[in-house]
Amino acid sequence: MEFEKIRDALKKKEGEPAKIRGWIYRKRSSGKIVFVVIRDSTGIMQVIVEKSKVADEDFKNADKALIESSVEVEGVIHEDERAPGGKEIHATKFNVIGFAKEFPITEYQSVEFLLDNRHLWLRSRRMTEVMKLKASMLKFIREWFDENEFWEVTPSVITMNAAEGGATVFSFDYFGQTAYLSQTAQMYLEALIFSLERVWSLTPSFRAEKSRTRRHLIEYWHLEAEEAWVKNEENMKLQEEMVSYVCQNIAKRCKEQLEYLGRNPEDLMVVEPPFKRIKYKDAIKILQDKGFDIQWGDDFGAPHEKALAEGEEKPIFVTNFPVESKAFYMKISPDGKTVECADMIAPEGYGEIIGGSEREEDIESMIERLKKDGADIKNYEWYFDLRRYGSVPHSGFGLGLERFLCWIAKLEHIRDATPFPRLLRRAYP
Ligand code: 4AD
Ligand code: MG
Repeated sequence: MEFEKIRDALKKKEGEPAKIRGWIYRKRSSGKIVFVVIRDSTGIMQVIVEKSKVADEDFKNADKALIESSVEVEGVIHEDERAPGGKEIHATKFNVIGFAKEFPITEYQSVEFLLDNRHLWLRSRRMTEVMKLKASMLKFIREWFDENEFWEVTPSVITMNAAEGGATVFSFDYFGQTAYLSQTAQMYLEALIFSLERVWSLTPSFRAEKSRTRRHLIEYWHLEAEEAWVKNEENMKLQEEMVSYVCQNIAKRCKEQLEYLGRNPEDLMVVEPPFKRIKYKDAIKILQDKGFDIQWGDDFGAPHEKALAEGEEKPIFVTNFPVESKAFYMKISPDGKTVECADMIAPEGYGEIIGGSEREEDIESMIERLKKDGADIKNYEWYFDLRRYGSVPHSGFGLGLERFLCWIAKLEHIRDATPFPRLLRRAYP
């Protein structure tokens, strides 16, 4: 008999044989019977190891094995209401593969302790459900891009362009030259639209942000798209369609994870296009009316984004930020003061999840803005070539996967949206 997943063993009937393997999740013993709950990637199952029903060696090992020991079990299915999932296995064989030492993680542990032991904490039910949800999100994102005729591409993560500004870039010695860890794949995606027209990529992005907040990671997974022949409004349409597609599918196909994490699927079912659009200048007024001390030109922080999305069930767009507050590559609007951009802000205080814009085609305008940031213009020559050889209107956007997941999974802190969070002063384990 082959091993089966616990999910499948739980579907079996009274008296059927079963064979599973996994790790000890919980255990208690009463002299002649050991009750072991085993977990695998699909669920948990109670196993009854009775002294009189298994070999002496098997019983001794079951009795002595600690939590997190890895085991193989053979036995017979019994229906019992008291068991998780309503079924248990009465063991005929109980084989310990790896005895665990005393597991360091017990019930109430500090955040720091759990981060130090992240490699072990990843086995928790909570982290498992979050990681499953993230994998499902990626699957639905891929589906959407496929259906909408985008090509997935693989840009480089080592770059000589600090496209999102010099303040948050990691630099390193690249055989005698200064290179950076990528903050965005955007510029490379822009190069690729001239052959593929619509492209997307998923890469790690790096931001040396000195701020310690619940929504900043030093390294995060950046999902970016770039589209030829598309202006800012159509760019927003693509974003709201993609985000809605993912929300709807998560709501329908990931109920178990959502339920465990305390997110009502109905919250995600209502996420449908169109999303509300607010111009930056109106957002400033709204914020002033709500009592914020904020002026034209100021950037939004978390409290501002939270206030703007207050009472909303779906994300909103804030568009047309002042030129000075945004990156050099955003197209300047006809008013000369704002750019053709949009930030997508999630409800419930989760803040900005997407930054997108139409791209500037005027080389001089970009040079002027780059100089203000102290950038080395010659490293951008290749990028200006894209404007010199058959330029087209184009737009794109970047979504922070962990920010998106935080909202979907109702997480309190972005560190739990990724298995090995890179935080200010933490790159271990
Ligand atoms: O708004 P940002 O900086 O935009 C760009 O990088 C564009 N070049 C994207 C593009 O148009 N291709 O970053 C995009 C998104 C943000 O909206 C946010 O979700 C996420 O990336 N992000 C972070 N996520 C986690 N930790 C950080 N430190 C993040 N910084 C940005
Ligand atoms: Mg942004």
